[in-house]
Amino acid sequence: MADIFEKLVKNYGPIGQHRERAHGYFAFPKLEGEIGSRMKFRGKEMIVWSLNNYLGLANHPEVRKIDADASVQYGLALPMGARMMSGNSNYHEQLEAELAEFEHKEDAILMNYGYQGIMSAIDAICGRHDVIVYDAESHACIIDGLRLHPGHRYVFKHNDMEDFEKQMQRASQLIEKQKTGGILVITEGVFGMAGDQGRLKEICDLKKKYDFRLLVDDAHGFGTMGKTGAGAGEEQGCQDEIDLYFSTFAKSMASIGAFLAGPRVIIDYIRYNIRSQIFAKSLPMPIVLGNLKRLELLKTRPELKEKLWENALKLQNGLKERGFDIGKTDSPVTPVYMKGGVEEATAMVMDLRENYGIFCSIVVYPVIPKGHIIYRLIPTAAHTDEDIKLTLKAFSETKAKLDAGAYKVEAIPDMAENK
Ligand SMILES: Cc1ncc(COP(=O)(O)O)c(C=O)c1O
Repeated sequence: MADIFEKLVKNYGPIGQHRERAHGYFAFPKLEGEIGSRMKFRGKEMIVWSLNNYLGLANHPEVRKIDADASVQYGLALPMGARMMSGNSNYHEQLEAELAEFEHKEDAILMNYGYQGIMSAIDAICGRHDVIVYDAESHACIIDGLRLHPGHRYVFKHNDMEDFEKQMQRASQLIEKQKTGGILVITEGVFGMAGDQGRLKEICDLKKKYDFRLLVDDAHGFGTMGKTGAGAGEEQGCQDEIDLYFSTFAKSMASIGAFLAGPRVIIDYIRYNIRSQIFAKSLPMPIVLGNLKRLELLKTRPELKEKLWENALKLQNGLKERGFDIGKTDSPVTPVYMKGGVEEATAMVMDLRENYGIFCSIVVYPVIPKGHIIYRLIPTAAHTDEDIKLTLKAFSETKAKLDAGAYKVEAIPDMAENK
């Protein structure tokens, strides 16, 4: 019999295979100092474009104060236990009520992490006769939620409404044949990699034609989209038609935790049946109080979202004027598409960091097809005009070098820590 560990050390996986050269630099880098547009990386100041600190709340003085004060007052332990058993508090319920009101829903449930929260919500909602129809570019947490689903699922091509209808027809036929079960459609408000919005309005309009409920993961739209920042549903004028609205606190709120909002009876059902929350400790008090303060700022300081968008448009227009392909983004998420191999991409990233002081994330094969590179820039309210100017200049210069073949190297540069 094989040792179960044997295969693991033979193949460390698509990114892990590069770890000996990449660890601490291309993977698992350590950004140090106060969270903001400028941080330290290996002792050097960088303009950072990798953090989903959209509204700049991570370092807002009122946020820092409540985080510190609540930690002193309550510590990380309170309340102990799962919400259902002993870990509930008035503050947890207050945060749920405020989130529900902000999202125009009757009720909301807090989750410790978005990833396990959404997985477990899918598990709580869907039984073996139910069918899930979902967008092909859904986040890993949705895909893992599908893995827990014992029934059928149909995937539609990313944001392709023709294919969506095709899959809805298949799903509807199956339900008719079974004579039991329902359909849950899952998509995202803003897709975090390409920055394009899910076609929520068009999906909602199809409720007239098909019977289904809609769950939207709006991790990147919450706080960034819509007149009040309520998200992509508000932006597209269909918030009321979204049955279940989900967001993490890990992005605009610059915190930890997540929530799911919807009709009271359904949220109550989920509250009593969502395994990842029933069998896990509740969010500690400083996190809950910190999130209440962040939500207050998100709602009452529209200038933060305005600044985010001002910066996002300056960056995106600047890139387009310089001939860069930024795809179909209609959110602050800014992808920059280029052509090149994995080795070239890493050499370019190294040049950007070492010689231009620009820190951004890259996506390469096998996450995307061979020969393509995506640089992903996340503008925030904390970036300055100078940050944008220097970044545009750096991108123009490094792209010219990439096109001239200057980054053609044999292997990923060896930048691992502790060499
Ligand atoms: C679209 C989307 N959904 C869910 C999550 C997971 O949220 P969390 O970080 O709270 O686990 C993320 C990443 O943070 C995300 O980008």
